[in-house]
Amino acid sequence: MNGVPHIQVTDLTYRYEPDAPKALDTINLSVPRGQFVAILGHNGSGKSTLAKLLNGLFLPTEGTVHISGMDTRDDDKIWDIRRTAGMVFQNPDNQLVATEVYDDVAFGLENIGVPPDDMPPRIDEALALTGMSEFKNRAPHLLSGGQKQRVAIAGILAMHPEALILDEATAMLDPQGRKEVLQTVRRLNEEQGITVVWITHFMEEATHAQRVLVMDHGQIAMDGSPREIFAQVDRLRDLRLDVPPMTQLARLLKERDIDIAPDVLNVEELVKEVKRLCPLCLKN
Ligand SMILES: Nc1ncnc2c1ncn2[C@@H]1O[C@H](COP(=O)(O)OP(=O)(O)OP(=O)(O)O)[C@@H](O)[C@H]1O
Ligand SMILES: [Mg+2]
Repeated sequence: MNGVPHIQVTDLTYRYEPDAPKALDTINLSVPRGQFVAILGHNGSGKSTLAKLLNGLFLPTEGTVHISGMDTRDDDKIWDIRRTAGMVFQNPDNQLVATEVYDDVAFGLENIGVPPDDMPPRIDEALALTGMSEFKNRAPHLLSGGQKQRVAIAGILAMHPEALILDEATAMLDPQGRKEVLQTVRRLNEEQGITVVWITHFMEEATHAQRVLVMDHGQIAMDGSPREIFAQVDRLRDLRLDVPPMTQLARLLKERDIDIAPDVLNVEELVKEVKRLCPLCLKN
């Protein structure tokens, strides 16, 4: 639907109990189709609560959430919303149910009533998109953490979602697994145009987003491009966050009179700066 924001959150407030404090406080947010948004924020700032409201797992206490124009409070739309905005959680072991990777991806399709004959091409496509085709007959519990998360993502992809909401999907993974999962999701965003909401505590991961939101006390405290957000070191510190490691390094070098751009965000940008500063360092 052209013109309608993919995700539209309007004056959203959420309380876990009627007399509990607000876990989310009057949030307004509009995410265009195809955007890659990272959400940062200290523990308890409201990230997971917001994620669960985005695909209708929780319903607003006040205000509204619309996905592709569908109101999450609309009983008739809730299954469409859950299918179209898939969630990936932190612990890969809690998301896999079958004894073979292929059956695990099939499980979600059975749940939404896809006819058995239509399943194989959808499953094969989802496994190919996540780079998991060669593992299709493996037992999920024998895969690495990163591979398990890619199977979880394949299970969602088979349902042909338009948005992926990932709540610290890399938190339990080693650096290689984190890289695999982030690269998979970036590719799905770039090549399939899937809208991504990427919740993380890793600042480096947020540098790859088009837009970064920082949450604090159930509100959106900052909203901008990674470069705009990570230039505000003091403000981030007030919100109990750091700048990404490579930004810290570039700033330290700058303080020691090295003529490096202080707004370097990640390894790729640091490498570019080193090449610029030190042509002699280049291998032919
Ligand atoms: N099941 C629950 N019942 C009651 N309050 C909850 C529940 N889950 C979260 N909260 C409260 O809601 C607020 C927001 O929590 P939320 O889990 O959304 O934060 P978060 O930003 O995801 O934190 P983290 O970085 O630790 O995952 C916190 O004050 C938290 O204590
Ligand atoms: Mg959380």
